[in-house]
Amino acid sequence: MITPIQGFSKLSKDEKINWIASNYTHNTQQTKEVLKVYWNSDAKLQKLHDEFIENTITNYYLPLGIAPNFLINNKLYAVPMAIEESSVVAAASKAAKFWLTRGGFKTTILGTEKVGQVHFIFKGDEKKLESFFTAIKPVLFNDSDSITTSMKKRGGGITNIELRNKTEDLEHYYQLHCTFETLDAMGANFINSCLEQFAKTLKREALAYTDFSDKEKNIEVVMSILSNYVPNCVVRAEVSCTVEELSEGNTEDAQHLAEKIVQAVNIAKIEPYRAVTHNKGIMNGIDAVILATGNDFRAIEAGVHAYASRNGKYSSLTNASVDNGVFKFWLDVPLALGTVGGLTNLHPLVKTALEILQKPSATELMQIVAATGLAQNFAAVRSLVTTGIQEGHMKMHLLNILNQLGATDSEKKTLTAHFKTNTVTHSAVVTAYNNLKND
Ligand code: MEV
Repeated sequence: MITPIQGFSKLSKDEKINWIASNYTHNTQQTKEVLKVYWNSDAKLQKLHDEFIENTITNYYLPLGIAPNFLINNKLYAVPMAIEESSVVAAASKAAKFWLTRGGFKTTILGTEKVGQVHFIFKGDEKKLESFFTAIKPVLFNDSDSITTSMKKRGGGITNIELRNKTEDLEHYYQLHCTFETLDAMGANFINSCLEQFAKTLKREALAYTDFSDKEKNIEVVMSILSNYVPNCVVRAEVSCTVEELSEGNTEDAQHLAEKIVQAVNIAKIEPYRAVTHNKGIMNGIDAVILATGNDFRAIEAGVHAYASRNGKYSSLTNASVDNGVFKFWLDVPLALGTVGGLTNLHPLVKTALEILQKPSATELMQIVAATGLAQNFAAVRSLVTTGIQEGHMKMHLLNILNQLGATDSEKKTLTAHFKTNTVTHSAVVTAYNNLKND
């Protein structure tokens, strides 16, 4: 029987591994070997990774790939992507190459506003609370001066603080709804520090506010935290071409293809079951760049899906149209990103990824990420309405199946050539592999 452990975090890395391997796995020795094989031989580098989180026992690898030929606002990028799904980088690269000769991606920043809130309970007269808030608003700004000085010098800071009455939804519940400009930083620490200061000021000033009754003076702050919902921190990425250019085939095919893509997007606009998968395809591209550049993909995921539901029903993030012989495909997506702070200066691969992207500003990174998401969605939808997704997907998955079977390099070469002209299914690969072995 496994018993709870006290002080696991105090154990050395070896002790942690021994404990986990002997208590939770069947083959203790093998588990230890697998965990240790992923340790970096450079002790300094390993220590850096160990210290990113608590209780590190090893490193978890993901491939870092490159999708080249992304022409975004006339600048050519090679986009680093960290992802495990076989077909994603291939699909992004294919779409980037396709749009390279059709004007590339055009992107626009629609906003960069970040949000944070102080959630509090006030049991009293709303009008008095409003007057109190008006009186203390300058104090809220002043008290956070020491936190905001350097951000203000660079052109950012707190852009607004609003009192919001939420009592219709929850009894006695109010907010300070605050907005920020955090420039090239994702800004989580900056925002949370400001909010915690606002909370202190709010409580202190309420206690001293003579118009409040004793009950009213006792504002209870429930929590102060940034929001990952950033509907005004949005970037648009778009591509367009004439309908004829859309297909390398004849005009009739092109018109049909354009209309089918629009139809597929329209289905994802109105049908949540499809919209979720449609948007998942977009996130294949977005998350991969987010991870490679050391940004917080959970924050982005949460914010993006909330944005996709902003009209009360979960819907597609992309749009498509055919007008006067012109096909347009575009994506509006909220992305609160940073290119300074956090992991960006710490993780050597993140630094390298940002260098490959020519050290982008946060807004430039927003544009690259959105273009990658759009490319991914274009590739997926085009496959879906033409060949179906499995053909390309299974071709890319072939190597995974061969690796599972333990194929050698030369067997992989022979079988990859074989499957250039044959349909890849799991059983077809197993049969071909066995036939090759028995030859
Ligand atoms: C698979 O990872 C993503 C797709 O399902 C996206 C889509 O259906 O649009 C192919």
